[in-house]
Amino acid sequence: MMQITTYATAERAAGAAARLVLNRLTDRPDIVIGLPTGSTPVPLYRALVRAYTRGVADFSQATTFNLDEFLGLARGAVGSYRTFMETHLFTQVNLHPRRAHVLDGAAHDWKREVARYEAQIAQAGGLDLVILGIGRNGHLGFNEPGPTLAARTHRVVLKPETRRANAGLFGGRWRDVPREALSMGIGTILSAREVVLIATGGAKSRIVARALHGPVTTRVPASLLQMHPHVTVVLDRDAASQL
Ligand code: GLP
Repeated sequence: MMQITTYATAERAAGAAARLVLNRLTDRPDIVIGLPTGSTPVPLYRALVRAYTRGVADFSQATTFNLDEFLGLARGAVGSYRTFMETHLFTQVNLHPRRAHVLDGAAHDWKREVARYEAQIAQAGGLDLVILGIGRNGHLGFNEPGPTLAARTHRVVLKPETRRANAGLFGGRWRDVPREALSMGIGTILSAREVVLIATGGAKSRIVARALHGPVTTRVPASLLQMHPHVTVVLDRDAASQL
């Protein structure tokens, strides 16, 4: 079941997504959440930090797993998703550092790293909730469109458009964006008991319409969400304009 909700502005959409997350956290303080990066979730993280600062959110029992990470960047490197998460969330709320997981893109043995990540998610009891953004090409995490998709956490080659979309993290130089990454698989994502997809801005309107109402296809990885039993889509008016 997919519930589609639309708000006047990106800020309000972020507020709605934050309320959903905070409600789930209240119901289940030891919740396991999958987390995205990108510009879309920044206002959501800001709202979660505000809730924590006001004393209405407690992350001390929660566990998080980020969706993806660039390959080959040292831990703490500029541009890494680990650094993004430290900046926007991990250092701002009382999440336990040992329970805030991000794939290690600097691991010597990436095969071991992806297997370890899957095992950690399983050991945590699976994802209760996964929060997703969407790439303009329909990717989820770094699951790029193609003839096939990988089910589980794996190594991916990024498309040029995806490297360009991430250039902001690298001082606008898209050639500095790593060519490869590690990402949860589409099966890892769809195994979450609940999904929240956030999309804002007119640049996402076309892909949002294709993902929500087009055919289910690996050419639009986000279209696979149509098969998930519990999805809430949170849009601003611009992202919803082609629905
Ligand atoms: C990156 C991330 C995705 C994210 C996408 C959209 O490529 N790997 O998880 O959804 O960017 O980013 P933005 O929110 O900046 O449009």
